[in-house]
Amino acid sequence: MRRKVTKAVFPVAGLGTRFLPATKSVPKEIMTLVDRPLVQYAIDEARAAGIKEFLFITSRGKSALEDYFDESPILERELRKKGELDILEDLKATNMESGAIAYMRQHKALGLGHAVWCARRLIGDEPFAVMLPDDVISAEKPCLQQMVEAYEETGGNMVAAMEVPREKTSSYGILDVKEDMGAMVSVKNMVEKPKVEEAPSNLAVIGRYILDPAVLKNLNKLKTGAGGEIQLTDAIAQEIDNTGVYGYRFRGQRFDCGSKAGFLQATVAFGLARDDLKDDLRRFLDSVMQIENAAE
Ligand code: G1P
Repeated sequence: MRRKVTKAVFPVAGLGTRFLPATKSVPKEIMTLVDRPLVQYAIDEARAAGIKEFLFITSRGKSALEDYFDESPILERELRKKGELDILEDLKATNMESGAIAYMRQHKALGLGHAVWCARRLIGDEPFAVMLPDDVISAEKPCLQQMVEAYEETGGNMVAAMEVPREKTSSYGILDVKEDMGAMVSVKNMVEKPKVEEAPSNLAVIGRYILDPAVLKNLNKLKTGAGGEIQLTDAIAQEIDNTGVYGYRFRGQRFDCGSKAGFLQATVAFGLARDDLKDDLRRFLDSVMQIENAAE
């Protein structure tokens, strides 16, 4: 029997400079997509995949993120008194069990690989997931759950993968495919943020990973890579000839909420998916488009 994946690392130490001045006082992960913070989407997805322990890698200025997971007895009492039971349910769904959540501080911004390495003692010797909350994925079956199911067959290391336009390859980890089996590919190399002309394909790594603990040992010895940072991609690449690396083309739509355009697109898409918002929003979008088209 393969060991179950029950721990997930959430690297949330980034400064969020692309969203300044908003992120001057609000951590990026707390920014609101419709009515819940970005991080809540990642937590819900992790829970659906069977994750029981949530390890956050934070940095200075992230206390609002830690506060977010506290219980809120005053709010709960108020809502109960007012009979707002639906909102109460939504609120209670954000509570985390005591001891299920841990925060580690990344003392220096040395890169994603270093952030994940900070969790090594809490991970120990078992497979674990990494989730980047900036990548929001809307899917019928949550992305990490799809990957956990695929991983039960393969073991090794698995990264979420998606085709991106060629000219965007320099923003991602890019896979060099050994064998393409449809949803799954086996990997013969992976490169972090290659120059467009050097990218081995246009199959990009998206922020969901299931990793063998050997990756943490690789990170122990890793030197800086692309951008002068310690790269997770490089530590995973070292497992290609050892525990094995697979890319998994998930079913679903990914939004890059690390960018303003992606965040706005996600807001519209998630708004349109909500019964209580879609009619008004669609009417508004239609009227905006009419005005735009008339102006052309
Ligand atoms: C990180 C990873 C990269 C991956 C990307 C997905 O990069 O290093 O391999 O393709 O996330 O969003 P970042 O966007 O943090 O620079």
